[in-house]
Amino acid sequence: MNTSIKIIGICGSLRNGSNTSIVVKSVLAAAEKAGAEVQFIDLRDYELVFCDGRNQEDYPDDVKRLRREVKSAHGVILGTPEYHGSYSGVLKNALDLMGFEELEGKMIGLVAVSAGALGGNDAFNSLRNVGRSLHAWVVPDQVSIPYVDSVISKDGEIADENVRNRLENLGHQVARFSYLHCSSKSKAFIKAWEEAPQNPGADYSS
Ligand SMILES: Cc1cc2nc3c(=O)[nH]c(=O)nc-3n(C[C@H](O)[C@H](O)[C@H](O)COP(=O)(O)O)c2cc1C
Repeated sequence: MNTSIKIIGICGSLRNGSNTSIVVKSVLAAAEKAGAEVQFIDLRDYELVFCDGRNQEDYPDDVKRLRREVKSAHGVILGTPEYHGSYSGVLKNALDLMGFEELEGKMIGLVAVSAGALGGNDAFNSLRNVGRSLHAWVVPDQVSIPYVDSVISKDGEIADENVRNRLENLGHQVARFSYLHCSSKSKAFIKAWEEAPQNPGADYSS
C-alpha cells in the first residue's frame, strides 16, 4: 500500500481483560500487516459524557479528541460484546457522539463476542443500520464469536485457528477496501467489491 491508510479500532467493552479488546486488536494487527497505520481506541481512556444533542463544540475535550481521531481514519473496526441481543451502550454512546463528519464514506468492519451460543449477529444487524444511516461502507465480512470464553484463553490467546483466520481476513479486507476507496483506484474498488466472495466465512465442507 503506497497511499497511507489509517485504521482505527474501537472497543465497545469497558471490562478489564475484555475479550472484545483482544479481537479488535487482532483485527488491527492484520490491518497493520496489510500496510495500514493502526490505532486502538480504549474508551476507558476518554472521559465521555452521554450524548444529549447539544452543539458539537460544547462537548468536553475528550469527546472532541475521539471525534478527531476517528475523523483521521479511513477505516474503522467496531468491536462489541453482545449485550441483551444488541451491541453495548458504551459503543452506542460513542457513536452518537459522532456523525457524518467522522464516519461518512469510511469502511467499517464488525466483530462481536458473546458468552452464549448466539454470537453477535443481533449486534451486527443494529450496527449495520448505524453504518447505513451514516453513509459508511460496512464490509460484507464480519466475525461473530459465540462461547467466547472457550475460544479466548485467560492469557488472551485465540485458540481457534478458524477464528484467527477470519479476524485476519477482516483486517485485510477493511485495510484493502479503505485503500482502494480513498485512492485514485476507485474503479478497482468497485470491481473488488463486486467480486468479493458472498460468504467467505462459511465452511460448507463438513
Ligand atoms: C449487560 C450484559 C448483557 C449481556 N447480554 C448477553 C447476551 O444477550 N447474550 C450473550 O450471549 N451474552 C451476553 N452477555 C455476556 C457478554 O457477551 C460476554 O460476557 C462477553 O464476553 C463480554 O465481552 P467482554 O469480554 O469484551 O467484556 C452480556 C453481558 C452483560 C454484562
